[in-house]
Amino acid sequence: MTQDDLKQAAARAALAQLVEGEIVGVGTGSTANYFIDQLATIRERFPGAVASSEATRSRLEKHQIRVFDLNEVDSLAVYVDGADEINGRLQMIKGGGGALTREKIVAAVADKFVCIADQAKRVSVLGRFPLPVEVLPMALGHVRRELAKIGGTPRVREGFVTDNGNLIIDLAGLEIVDPPALESRLNQIVGVVTNGLFARRGADVCLLATADGVLTLTAD
Ligand code: A5P
Repeated sequence: MTQDDLKQAAARAALAQLVEGEIVGVGTGSTANYFIDQLATIRERFPGAVASSEATRSRLEKHQIRVFDLNEVDSLAVYVDGADEINGRLQMIKGGGGALTREKIVAAVADKFVCIADQAKRVSVLGRFPLPVEVLPMALGHVRRELAKIGGTPRVREGFVTDNGNLIIDLAGLEIVDPPALESRLNQIVGVVTNGLFARRGADVCLLATADGVLTLTAD
């Protein structure tokens, strides 16, 4: 089985987590794209979706799935998204695709966060994947200096602008032993919009695709 096969298997399994008749929150990335393709096969059972990025919006629309603005909805039953890393507490690093801020906002509205991932994403300690931090452009130098004090190596993502018109600094070389604490600390740096640690609000369920099938994981 290839990694793409596993991503597809996790995406397919997510359909069983949805609440019929409710608007679906949809994440961003290659695994989320497979989920959108699956959702399209049963789209008549749902009023539509809220997108966590412009890329997701356009893929949903291509499949004739109605896209609602987040401010049009008061609640979401389920948010489905991938992860770059996920630990046993279902805390994650996200934002490899740069959509972390909108992902975090949509996830905050949802009652249930369903993470869909292949087995390569499961780690015991977060941090091998560089942690994305979204930064207001005028604060780039300041934030980079502050991140360097935390440890690790901050690198500006070259040629990349987020859907919100901001920049991304990837913080490499961390071993994140207390993800909620680091998530809060990074958010205290003036000029940081948000960071890719999803620890204070992690996933509720992880559908982890392995060669032996899709495992349903809940937090340790
Ligand atoms: C997008 O900004 C990310 O948070 C993605 O959800 C995450 O990077 C997982 O992407 P893949 O499913 O492509 O691995």
